[in-house]
Amino acid sequence: MSYLPIQHVLKTLPVGTEVTIKGWVRTKRESKNAVFIALNDGSTIHTIQAVAETGQLPEDTLKLITTGACLAVTGLLVESQGAGQAVEVKIASIQIYGPADPDKYPLQPKRHSLEFLREIAHLRPRTNTFSAVLRIRHALAFAVHKYFNDNGFYYLNTPIITASDAEGAGEMFRVTTLDAIKPPLNEEGKVDYSQDFFGRETNLTVSGQLEGELGAMALGKIYTFGPTFRAENSNTTRHLAEFWMIEPEMAFFELEDNMNLAEDFVKTVIRYALQNCADDLAFLDNRLKEEEKTKKKEEQSDMGLLDKLQFVISNEFVRLTYTDAIDILVNSKPAKKGQFQYEVSWGVDLQSEHERYLVEKHFKKPVILTNYPREIKAFYMKQDEESNAAPGPTVRAMDVLFPGIGEIIGGSQREDNYDKLVARMQEVGIEPEALWWYLDTRRFGSAPHAGFGLGFERLVLFVTGMGNIRDVIPFPRAPKTAEF
Ligand code: 4AD
Ligand code: MG
Repeated sequence: MSYLPIQHVLKTLPVGTEVTIKGWVRTKRESKNAVFIALNDGSTIHTIQAVAETGQLPEDTLKLITTGACLAVTGLLVESQGAGQAVEVKIASIQIYGPADPDKYPLQPKRHSLEFLREIAHLRPRTNTFSAVLRIRHALAFAVHKYFNDNGFYYLNTPIITASDAEGAGEMFRVTTLDAIKPPLNEEGKVDYSQDFFGRETNLTVSGQLEGELGAMALGKIYTFGPTFRAENSNTTRHLAEFWMIEPEMAFFELEDNMNLAEDFVKTVIRYALQNCADDLAFLDNRLKEEEKTKKKEEQSDMGLLDKLQFVISNEFVRLTYTDAIDILVNSKPAKKGQFQYEVSWGVDLQSEHERYLVEKHFKKPVILTNYPREIKAFYMKQDEESNAAPGPTVRAMDVLFPGIGEIIGGSQREDNYDKLVARMQEVGIEPEALWWYLDTRRFGSAPHAGFGLGFERLVLFVTGMGNIRDVIPFPRAPKTAEF
């Protein structure tokens, strides 16, 4: 018989329908007169209750109905006598697909720590929390494609294996088919990559931007949505070694247009989640409230998850320059009291404590910082005209900072002047010849253009209210973490 998702049964089928539902046992409870089985199939946060009379099911079948076992239950959909659900299934017959030995199955019905669940990432999608996160992740991914499709963007697939370092930060995973222990050497005694699969050094992409720019200079507005890889040794709650990035790139957009797009885009996809993931968000909102109660009063957040999401979509993001932000930070209480771990002055790369001070304490709103010092940003960003306001050269960069997250989006207007771009590459030690194809866009029909990158997991982190980025991707990759 075909599969009838529990979501569909609960939402649309009338009482009196004969159904066969299939799913995994969450709990089994026996009273004097009946046995109650809560089944979940992951199609929804809700379980459906199946009820049999005491003595109706053979003893050896009953024994196999334990948490984690997979069953098919056939019976009549009836009004439920119990609280908490409108309907339940009056069991006529049960088929056991796969039992789950209660002495060995690790997901028993009790509270498990997220750390423990990370160790059983192959099973954690069967919990309420992770299934909710994964359904929301799906909805957000769909909303991303919908947003760009609705707004005239083309989805461009950029390569996963590349020969370039788009960010120039040297955080790449090498891709090679050469022997790791005894690679072939050239006359200088160095590894001879001409004998490698691609005949050259290659790596996993850190960003699809450079190829995205090629697309924008042909199709107008494009976006990428794919995996990116960074071998940065950051053991934080905000970094993954493998994460998904969304990178729109638009011809004829300048910095201001780029900011407008970024703000409208994140607000729209968050609104989509609010409209389409109400049950899962309500569950996570509640989960967060319970978690908050265990914290000290002064550390408790005054906004719940749903409040926070509503707040973000209904308020304009604050926009200010890096230079103005530094002024605020230098004159802030924590700076004066020496409470920042990292010192702050014009020219430094902002640490997450600084970003969070601006967003959570000073403005209490998402913030877009612009016009960063040239020295701390990537080579491709458009150089600003000299201005009296900034003490040094700046570029047309923009970072979107979110409460609890810090940087969620990074982007810029791109340098479209061939000479300036080549000069900048030479300054930072990138060989222009190696990126000849990228430079060709500035040689043939160059145009103003801009784009940004949104870290998909940081968005999911924000929307779900989870605390660790490893808990919003099914199988996280991080330093010393590549099980499953
Ligand atoms: O700021 P980043 O490094 O910018 C770029 O890669 C540009 N090429 C984007 C562009 O303009 N097209 O990364 C962009 C975003 C960050 O704002 C952050 O949300 C996310 O990607 N990100 C990470 N997410 C998870 N783990 C990591 N290690 C991340 N590094 C960046
Ligand atoms: Mg960045």
